[in-house]
Amino acid sequence: MTTVPREAHLPALDEHHRGEAGHELQATLVELVDLSLIGKQLHWNIRGRPFKPLHEHLDELVDSWRDLSDTVAERAVAIGVAPDGRAATVAAGSGIDPVETGSLDTDTALQELVTRLADVTERIRARMDRLGEVDLASQDVLVEVVRELEKQLWMVRVSLPA
Ligand SMILES: [Fe+2]
Repeated sequence: MTTVPREAHLPALDEHHRGEAGHELQATLVELVDLSLIGKQLHWNIRGRPFKPLHEHLDELVDSWRDLSDTVAERAVAIGVAPDGRAATVAAGSGIDPVETGSLDTDTALQELVTRLADVTERIRARMDRLGEVDLASQDVLVEVVRELEKQLWMVRVSLPA
């Protein structure tokens, strides 16, 4: 993570708070990008019934994670911190466990997704809490992310097999 050249538009955050907010946003960015990659991996590799609803639901989730990652990255730029969404950075920085290669049945895929989504949402919620002491506008971005992920978690959890 590098600091972009200081410009007049930057908000009045002190360096310490700018760095802290940038750190929390960057950590969230890599996990949202990783989620979107995992979502596509599952979208392509699930098999079994009911295939189509989960296949399509995964694409909706991927779209949402991509949109959220964009919002997070652009908040970082707005406070003067260059976001890093490169593949190597995502691979090194994401706390989400990779999924297995190859095809997997829809029930297993759902379970794998719920576990990862729950873990990452918990981490982003902790970042959201920390940002309350740092920068409320950046916190607001993570509030949006957490609200969306928790709604998604509810929806995928209720579709888990009994
Ligand atoms: Fe597709």
